[in-house]
Amino acid sequence: MHYRHNELKLFDEEQVTPQVTKQKGVTTEKLTRLDINEELRKKILPHCRLKEGEIWTDPKGKHKIGCLDATSNNDTKKLFGKEKAQLVINDPPYNVVVGNANTKSLSKMDIKKYMDFSKNWVQNVVSILDKNASLYIWLGADQNDGFQPLPEFMIMMRELKELSSRSFITMRNQRGYGTQKNWMAVRQELLYYIKGEPPFTVIYTDIPKILRGYYKEINGKVTENFERSKSLNIRPGNVWVDIQQVFYRMEENIPGAYAQKPLKSISRIVEASSKKNDLVADFFSHSGATLIAAEQLERGCYAMELDIVFAELSIRRLEYYRKTGKTGWQLNNPFPEVKV
Ligand SMILES: C[S@@+](CC[C@H](N)C(=O)[O-])C[C@H]1O[C@@H](n2cnc3c(N)ncnc32)[C@H](O)[C@@H]1O
Repeated sequence: MHYRHNELKLFDEEQVTPQVTKQKGVTTEKLTRLDINEELRKKILPHCRLKEGEIWTDPKGKHKIGCLDATSNNDTKKLFGKEKAQLVINDPPYNVVVGNANTKSLSKMDIKKYMDFSKNWVQNVVSILDKNASLYIWLGADQNDGFQPLPEFMIMMRELKELSSRSFITMRNQRGYGTQKNWMAVRQELLYYIKGEPPFTVIYTDIPKILRGYYKEINGKVTENFERSKSLNIRPGNVWVDIQQVFYRMEENIPGAYAQKPLKSISRIVEASSKKNDLVADFFSHSGATLIAAEQLERGCYAMELDIVFAELSIRRLEYYRKTGKTGWQLNNPFPEVKV
């Protein structure tokens, strides 16, 4: 098929042990991973409204979701036309195998091929960035394979003269893997680049400041940091420790999705790096997390997703949110017409 050659089937799995995975499959979610369960995919496909190359336009005129290929320049033009995005949040496949679950069905791609894939989608992102814009990229580093692809990706980004590096953020996951013979792997990398001079709004966490100190003399008076600061809570900085990883008991959980980012992490980016009514883009929509954050924070979102099933899931998540106010299905089936 035309689009399939660019599909990367490998993701940061974000799962725990095979035992938990097994238990999770048996007792909890109604759907298993929608990318690898062929039987289930066959049942769901007739209920997906987009075909490859097609775009869903929001009846409220705010968002668009295309069943499109992030590496295709034509698809990018098709979705954006002459419009430019002020913020892009991309979460591509990482080329990293994590945990033991489902490893048989996952095969790692050669780094050279992965970098060709990355260069292509990055070029497309650059083509739709506004004069002043921010670009965030979630990425992984395989500790069992020379930490690829993170360093290769960072070096490749230096070639793009219109972008400058701004921050290297790490989000801490609660669940990790490899705890017995190694440091538990809990990090999730997030790169932040800018073009021109995009806005940046300071964000605070819900964590109260607990440390005093940092005395400083201001206008002849000795002040400590609590008096000087704008908030009694701490800023997230570039190490985010306050975001709950999505798991099946949370309302925002999307059964069938396997690489879902916490809404809070995406909302934090959207609030810090865009303004109301800006256009936010996501080239790898999956569960539609960026779309929901944009809807909640009154931004527009144009999203691409190569997989028909996940494109449909993104559309459904938005519709479900508008209807119920809920950010996900928790344990319930997003495709109730398909018996599982
Ligand atoms: C890591 S997931 C994104 C997760 C997303 N941020 C979320 O929170 O749900 C990557 C997604 O990219 C899609 N994908 C893979 N190759 C693609 C391509 N060439 N173009 C567009 N989407 C692609 C996969 O189907 C998958 O749904």
